[in-house]
Amino acid sequence: MAAAGSAVGLGNVWGFPTQTASNGGAAFLLIYLLMMALLAFPMLVAELTIGRYGQSNPIASLRKIWVKNRLLATILGSTAMLTASMILSFYAILAGWLIGFALAPVLALVGLDSIANWLTTFGTGRNVLLTVCFMMMTVFVVRRGVSDGIEKWSSRLMPVLFVLFLILIAYIFTQEGATLGLEMYLIPDWSHVNGGLVVNAMGQAFFSLSLGVGAMMVYGSYLGKDVNIAKTAGQVAVIDTGVAFFAGLLILPAMFVAKNNGVQIFNEVGELISSGNLVFVVLPSLFQSMGMVGEVVGVAFFVLMVIAALTSSIAMLEVPVSCLQEETQIQRDKAALVLGGLILLLSAVIAANFESLFDWVATASTLYMQPLLGMCWAVVLGWVWSRKALLDEIKQGNPEIETSLFWRIWPWYVKFVCPVAILMVFVYPFV
Ligand code: TRP
Repeated sequence: MAAAGSAVGLGNVWGFPTQTASNGGAAFLLIYLLMMALLAFPMLVAELTIGRYGQSNPIASLRKIWVKNRLLATILGSTAMLTASMILSFYAILAGWLIGFALAPVLALVGLDSIANWLTTFGTGRNVLLTVCFMMMTVFVVRRGVSDGIEKWSSRLMPVLFVLFLILIAYIFTQEGATLGLEMYLIPDWSHVNGGLVVNAMGQAFFSLSLGVGAMMVYGSYLGKDVNIAKTAGQVAVIDTGVAFFAGLLILPAMFVAKNNGVQIFNEVGELISSGNLVFVVLPSLFQSMGMVGEVVGVAFFVLMVIAALTSSIAMLEVPVSCLQEETQIQRDKAALVLGGLILLLSAVIAANFESLFDWVATASTLYMQPLLGMCWAVVLGWVWSRKALLDEIKQGNPEIETSLFWRIWPWYVKFVCPVAILMVFVYPFV
């Protein structure tokens, strides 16, 4: 459940629908589903297995496997740690907006309209302030080590978010224009498929399953030896994909309904305007169209999203914190505070230079670094780790695995197919 909580976040509700809408709809959805099944899922099993074997932070876990090349293992682990921090630095800005949208209706209700307005209007001041709030929440949870409590809450609340999605989907289809969105989402137009789309789909799949940066290794190290890793990974991937699919089923139709209601979604050439902002324009307009009920639903939705984002952000911060804590013997408390502060500083720089930095940091860390690091883990697992040791590890919690179809395919698949496939996706646009 904790790993599912880390996986479900803004990637599902903001990243996936935005990417789908800006990459032509159904064609992206299909390539994304392929990427999930063929690359992200096998890599999730790989990361969880490495982590459980290592029983430690990602740097130490990698070193335990790559005994002969401890230096390289340390360098790769540290790169993962830095990438996780980079992801958190832009994620916190987005998550801050969620806080703004959760607070605004309440403030408006008690007459503080101008503050409510400020909180929901793009601006450096508000971006920085809300990012600080979100980072403080993240650091608070990681410092106290109260992640357990948060996970329990989130496993209770995430089903509520899911039901809310279903209700909103039912509502949106009573509105004019929704079927246009449904068509875009489900009827593929293959002319949209190109190298760029495939790279985007792969990056989105890696982001959504929190792969590449060691977060899933940390979660793997928390798994008991009686846990069936392949099954757990399967459940996480299905829950994560399900939430993303339903988010798309809501947001694409909602885009066209909003357009029908006079909100500008496309420019004259038919391209999406300000795609990063899309969800934050479409959803409030949806809630507004529902009248008074919409206010309540809107607050509930954004509060739940803040919690979903928090279960993701603690997973990101946990990566550098666990490394620093175990590598330097510094206390967890201090490690969380220091690293949280440094990452917040980076966030503030990004927020202050939003136009020039935000997309760059998000693209570099998620689209490129996550799959490339994933490729390194595939190489470590396939070429460095002995097959016998790997089997011994994955057998625990699943004694019959040796004779299963999974074991006949997966080790070979991760060794040969995954690294080549990831590389090919990157090279393809250039050939
Ligand atoms: N998967 C999360 C989402 O979809 C984001 C996330 C959590 C993440 N932990 C991560 C992304 C670690 C990369 C690395 O929102």
